[in-house]
Amino acid sequence: MKTTEIDGTTRVCGLIGSPVEHTLSPLIHNMLARRLSHNLVYVPFLTRGGPEEVRRAVEGAYALNILGLNVTVPHKQTVTACLTRTDALAEKIGAVNTLVRAEGGYQGYNTDMSGLYRAMESDGIRLRDREVLVLGAGGAARAVAFMCVYYGAAKVWMLNRTLKKAELAAEEINASFGRRCIEPMALSDYRSLPGEGYLAVQATSAGLYPDVLGAPVTEPDFYRLVDTGVDLIYRPFETRFMRLVRQAGGRAVNGLKMLLYQGIDAYELWNGVKVLEDTAQEIYLRMKEELEKNE
Ligand code: ATR
Repeated sequence: MKTTEIDGTTRVCGLIGSPVEHTLSPLIHNMLARRLSHNLVYVPFLTRGGPEEVRRAVEGAYALNILGLNVTVPHKQTVTACLTRTDALAEKIGAVNTLVRAEGGYQGYNTDMSGLYRAMESDGIRLRDREVLVLGAGGAARAVAFMCVYYGAAKVWMLNRTLKKAELAAEEINASFGRRCIEPMALSDYRSLPGEGYLAVQATSAGLYPDVLGAPVTEPDFYRLVDTGVDLIYRPFETRFMRLVRQAGGRAVNGLKMLLYQGIDAYELWNGVKVLEDTAQEIYLRMKEELEKNE
C-alpha cells in the first residue's frame, strides 16, 4: 500500500511510552490517514524515564507542532501532570492515553475506555442498565469499573482474587461518584452473586500471552452465570476465559476492537472527523492479519 507523501504540510502524531516496538497503533492511524486522504503520519517515540522525562517529551512535542500523542505504559498516570485540561472520564480514572493539541498545551482523554465502550456498542453489547462483573482490581479493572458506571451500568461487582484490593478500588470509585455503585467481592465467592445473565469484563492479566492457559477462574459454575464475556486481552486471539464463556453457552469477544476504537476515538479527536464503520471494519481485518502473522 502507498505510504503518505511527506511534504512541508505533513502533520505528525505519535505514541510515547516504553516499550513501543510491538504497537499496532501506527497501522491504525496511518491507515486512517490514507483512507481519509489526510496528510498525516503517526510514529512511535520510545520515551523512557520518569515524570521529568515525560514532561520534556510533552513540551518538546508541543514545541514541534505535533498534533496529538497517544500515551502508553508506563506514563498514563504521570502524563496527567503535563496537561492544560483533562476530560471528565479520564479525570475520574486518573489515566490518560490521548493528548489533543489545543491553545497553550495538550488536553488529555482516555480513549482506552471510550474505545472499549464503542467496541462493545459495535458488537451490540449494551452497558446501560446492565449488571456487570468486572474481574480484577488493578489499573485496567479500575478503569473498566469507572467506565461501566459512567456509561450507565445498573450495578457493578468487582471480583478480585485478593478481596482487599477490590475493596480499596470500590471505595475509591464509590467516593468519586458519590454513591454505592461498585460492590467488591472475592472471586472465590462468586456463588453468592444474587443473579445470572451477567456481562463479565475480564480485566486481570491472567491469560495474557505467554500465559495462554491462564484464566482468573476456571470453574464452569462461574461461567453459567455469564451471558456475555468481554476480555481486554487480544493476544492470544481466543483466551481461555473466552473459551470457558463459550463452552457455557455465552458469547465472548476479545480486546482487539477496543484497541481499534481507542485509536479511532483518538484520531477523531485530533482531526475533527467521524470515521465510518466500513473503514473501521477494514482496519480491524488488517490488525487481525497482522496479529496472525506474528503468532
Ligand atoms: P493492570 O494494571 O494491567 O490491571 P495489575 O495492576 O498488575 O495490572 O493487576 C493485575 C490484576 O490481575 C489484579 O487484579 C490481579 O489480582 P490480585 O490483585 O489478586 O493480584 C489479577 N490477576 C493476575 N493474575 C491472576 C490470576 N492468575 N488469577 C486471578 N487474578 C489474577
